[in-house]
Amino acid sequence: MLETPQKVAVGRAHSKLILIGEHSVVYGKPAIAFPFKQIEVKVTVKNIEGNAIQIESPFYKGPIELIPEKMEGIGDCVIQTLKVLEKRSSGLHIQITSSIPIGRGLGSSAAIAIALVRGLFAFFNQELSDSQLMPLVERAEKFAHGTPSGIDMIAASSANPIWFQKQQEVESVKIGAPFHFVVADSGRIGDTYSAVKSIRDKYEMKPEKIEESITLLGQLAKEVRLALAAGDSKKVGDKLNQAHQQLDLLGVSDQGLDDLVNAARTAGALGAKLTGGGRGGCILALVENEKLGKKVADALVQAGAAQTWQFTIAKC
Ligand code: PMV
Repeated sequence: MLETPQKVAVGRAHSKLILIGEHSVVYGKPAIAFPFKQIEVKVTVKNIEGNAIQIESPFYKGPIELIPEKMEGIGDCVIQTLKVLEKRSSGLHIQITSSIPIGRGLGSSAAIAIALVRGLFAFFNQELSDSQLMPLVERAEKFAHGTPSGIDMIAASSANPIWFQKQQEVESVKIGAPFHFVVADSGRIGDTYSAVKSIRDKYEMKPEKIEESITLLGQLAKEVRLALAAGDSKKVGDKLNQAHQQLDLLGVSDQGLDDLVNAARTAGALGAKLTGGGRGGCILALVENEKLGKKVADALVQAGAAQTWQFTIAKC
């Protein structure tokens, strides 16, 4: 029995989707990302007897000191957050549950770190500002991705679509009409770290070729922003198709993703592309309406998608 009454706090964070600009964002170009609120991470923090910090997650259950190497960022995030809070009074039980599949370009690592920090701040009844949250999440993201651009953590902590460019203020994105999307999970884990590195390696060997695609992706992001504001779904779809072509040229698509993109287009999507790091992970498809979304989702499952989601970005 606990001598002190049990205290419980919860931290949550949702998934994110990059509409356009993955990879080129690493080279300073703009990108657009959406909060993807249908799937999320929940972190529950409770006090327990003693001084240990116990972690319970789908991948590991035990004391924080013995956390496996691949979860090192999570362990570090807990320790750093407690340091910032200047709190370590009692034992803690930290449970992580998530409906965001890992390694699919859906921002699971950023969402876990955000939910952890939110949960710990809530447990100690402390207000959490963005200027406290972001450095803690950035540190955790470096364990997961090496040198991330930062788009994941901003998108996974934002309630609205964002316009993101490294070293610049995040801007909001005007949405002139509702846009309907289907997201399909290839069921294969993508490796963002190696995908980013492969582009970097090619860039060092043949900068002109890579620069051409990067510049075009930056331009497409600007055109998509205008088309979103104008509510022009046909134009957005067309630009998404062009972006997928450039990502393919950069070598971050693969046959499985191309098959899903083609299946979505054949079933009537206005445009489709990979989303996130690529080489596995997810694709997204823009559809005219929810009815067509169902047809596209069925076609994606037929083409081998492990799961699909439909969502709408509302006018804002
Ligand atoms: O974490 P992912 O797979 O969604 O990739 C993030 C987007 C990249 O541009 C590929 C990498 C980055 O750090 O911006």
